[in-house]
Amino acid sequence: MEIQEQVPLSSLTTFKVGGAAQYVIHCGNVEDIKSALAFAGERALPWYVLGGGSNVLASDEGYAGVIIQPMLTGIRFEEGMEETHGNSSSVSVTAAAGEAWDPFVQACVGRELWGLENLAGIPGLVGGAPIQNIGAYGADVSQTISLVEALDTVTGEIKSFSNAECAFGYRDSIFKRTAQYIVLRVIFSLSKNAAPHTSYADLTVYQEKNGPLSTPQEIAAAVREIRARKFPDLRVSGTAGSFFKNPFITQEHYDVLLDKYPELPGFPVEIKEPASTSSEARAAVKIPLAWILDKVLDLRGHALGPVRLFEQQPLVVVAEKGATAHDVDVLGKEIEKKVFDATQIVIEREVRML
Ligand code: EPU
Repeated sequence: MEIQEQVPLSSLTTFKVGGAAQYVIHCGNVEDIKSALAFAGERALPWYVLGGGSNVLASDEGYAGVIIQPMLTGIRFEEGMEETHGNSSSVSVTAAAGEAWDPFVQACVGRELWGLENLAGIPGLVGGAPIQNIGAYGADVSQTISLVEALDTVTGEIKSFSNAECAFGYRDSIFKRTAQYIVLRVIFSLSKNAAPHTSYADLTVYQEKNGPLSTPQEIAAAVREIRARKFPDLRVSGTAGSFFKNPFITQEHYDVLLDKYPELPGFPVEIKEPASTSSEARAAVKIPLAWILDKVLDLRGHALGPVRLFEQQPLVVVAEKGATAHDVDVLGKEIEKKVFDATQIVIEREVRML
């Protein structure tokens, strides 16, 4: 366990903004995490779990508390018990929370295992994947998770959550709704049998140009190529990917908007039980916010000082050198107002505010 003081949050988050954290504790195992919680308790300080910092906007004032970094490592592949045509088709893969996500995906696709290929190229760590149910190019990580092992910070016990108990929703899970649990390990169920998901618009266009994608490696490579065009280079700029969630609206609301914007795309929402948020429960149509930002509001590249909406994907906020969390917040509020004024849609931030 390593305790550091006054660590700039700009160095721990991909947005690269934010003041200093009073303490940062790097935890290599569960005992370290328990000690870090005790350290915060003894000093009556709040604590916050930060993994790869790729979905967080840290405040300019910093954090007067303890940042806990669960950096547990280890990946294990185990042949599954399910028998298909005499062959075991499923492989159970256990990955610890501190493993980097994309190299983990690469290790899986490299073994020709199906399930995570569409999620290639996402920054962050394995532990963050179930928390916000990462998703891209037609896949959600919840489709492959069989179990999540987490530390219950109230009882001090390690608890296993089945897929249903994780209560996954769109960019949502029980782990996002309560800070009670700290994700330690994720167990994925991957398949040796081909199960390609290549109908997402960007992948269809890619295949029209480059030919069919038929292995997990090929799909992962295509996704990385597409992402390289749609997201800023993290080595140069600050970003946390999509800044807002795509909104869910009612069919009536969608019909009203279609009168005004006949080409507005809308995707029927699969109503899952229980829906994770009340808006998800009532709404029927998911709207790509990037379309509104681009086609209705013409905001590609819209800048406010050193922060802007990315030219290639306006749902992505980019912070250049010298930007503050305040700058990002002001731009965020401006966008929230513009979207509401044009469409009466209340949008929510996907990025977590610290
Ligand atoms: N569009 C435009 N103009 C643009 C860009 C997009 O009109 O400049 C429209 C197009 O109609 C396009 C649609 O918006 O089909 C959706 O765009 P895109 O496929 O790029 O996806 P997105 O809905 O903006 C979501 C996720 C991303 C994920 C991509 C790819 C959310 C909040 N974001 O973005 O996830 O990578 O799909 O699957 O759901 C993240 O969560 O941080 C993230 C990056």
